[in-house]
Amino acid sequence: MHTRKNMNKPNLKKSDLKLAKLILLEEIRQQDKLSMIPSENFTSKAVREAVGSVMMNKYSEGNIGKRYYEGNEFIDEIEQLAIDRARQAFNLPQNWGVNVQALSGSNANLASLLAVLNKDDLIMSMYLPDGGHLSHGWSYNPALKPDPQNLVFKEGTKEVHVVSKLFKIIQYKTDPKTQLFDYDKLEEIALKYKPRMIITGGTAYPREIDYKRMRQIADKVGALYLADVAHEAGLISAGVLSSPVSIADIVTMTTHKTLRCTRGAIILARNDLIEKINHAILPGLQGGPHNHNIAGIAAGLSEALKPEFKIYAKQVVKNAQILAEELKKYDFNLVSGGTDKHMILINMTNKGILGKKAARALDHAGIVANMNTMPQETRSPANPSALRLGTPVITTRGMKVKEMKQIAKWINEVIEIAKEYTNLEFDEFDERTAKDKKIKAIAIEVKKLCRKFPLAI
Ligand SMILES: Cc1ncc(COP(=O)(O)O)c(C=O)c1O
Repeated sequence: MHTRKNMNKPNLKKSDLKLAKLILLEEIRQQDKLSMIPSENFTSKAVREAVGSVMMNKYSEGNIGKRYYEGNEFIDEIEQLAIDRARQAFNLPQNWGVNVQALSGSNANLASLLAVLNKDDLIMSMYLPDGGHLSHGWSYNPALKPDPQNLVFKEGTKEVHVVSKLFKIIQYKTDPKTQLFDYDKLEEIALKYKPRMIITGGTAYPREIDYKRMRQIADKVGALYLADVAHEAGLISAGVLSSPVSIADIVTMTTHKTLRCTRGAIILARNDLIEKINHAILPGLQGGPHNHNIAGIAAGLSEALKPEFKIYAKQVVKNAQILAEELKKYDFNLVSGGTDKHMILINMTNKGILGKKAARALDHAGIVANMNTMPQETRSPANPSALRLGTPVITTRGMKVKEMKQIAKWINEVIEIAKEYTNLEFDEFDERTAKDKKIKAIAIEVKKLCRKFPLAI
């Protein structure tokens, strides 16, 4: 078991004890708390060995066989391995290609847009407070009150993300009644505004997206279609969710969420587009690829291609669905009524405690979640109405039905306890919930459960 005495990393300990101690504390935190942030996962030792290797020392600007630096014979082979495994994991047809060099999901999106759009082209993407992503062009209007009934947002004046500075953006929302996409409505919006690019995907939409229907909409207006599957990538590669490959024009994803590789991104696109995207990555946007991460992506994809990963991905969804059903028994109000994937979004307004305080109280109990906006949000992202939970890490730990029931029970208990403090200012709320004996008792039980399902650190 991991303890302070049994400290690994002897070299770091010798050269920089302060840093070594801080890393150890983070290892202990990950080991002893339940990470339920849906965008996180826990990588294998094999992936971490690849990432922590000499691969980080090499510059390799360019693409395989066409580098601007010498000494890339093995780097070429490793990048090819990552590309070949991505082809296999996402069942790519011959006329699609792969880029594994984007440093992050945000860069993958930006490079894709730079590759195929002209400045000021119109993008139609999902509204951020409904679960879209910043890199799909977020801007807002500080003078405007949110209007939950208006399904299009096009009044953003404060350009927050660089994508909103470079392109024009309109954002579509979920249906206020169902909190699902009304595809007929999206079609109407597309026909009215005629975007050059439609983007789907987000960080907090708990339901599957109908990629075929979105393709139809894009075709009706002659738009390109980019599907960002950052969250769902692992579930798609395992065949648990449907795939937008061959339907969209471009598919982007992060590699560190459900796909359980290292941090990074993969871009899949038709061959005519992937060449433009390669060029947009370098020289357009980045310098040298992070070869250690490309090695980590290759290592993670080799695991994702194994039959055990399919079982894992199925269990991720099953666990999320069981957790959702259990939470509903405690009168938690789930956005869209449930989930098709690895994440749950809870509208906390009926609980008398909102996302920020709920997340902090849960953290004191050893359950790490995050506050989130939700459809028809009227509050600021700094203090929003919802709480977001996910099952990728706890499923990596091996947890199943029994543990989901227990976790739902603890979540309910913590929220009930924390309610008593909800009228306090945040700092005092934080202090009081940190000291609360009942919350501390739950944290001990959570730690015991974590020890029963240890992470391979
Ligand atoms: C849908 C979506 N796209 C893009 C990203 C950006 O990824 P990164 O944090 O690697 O820039 C995220 C990250 O959460 C995401 O959820």
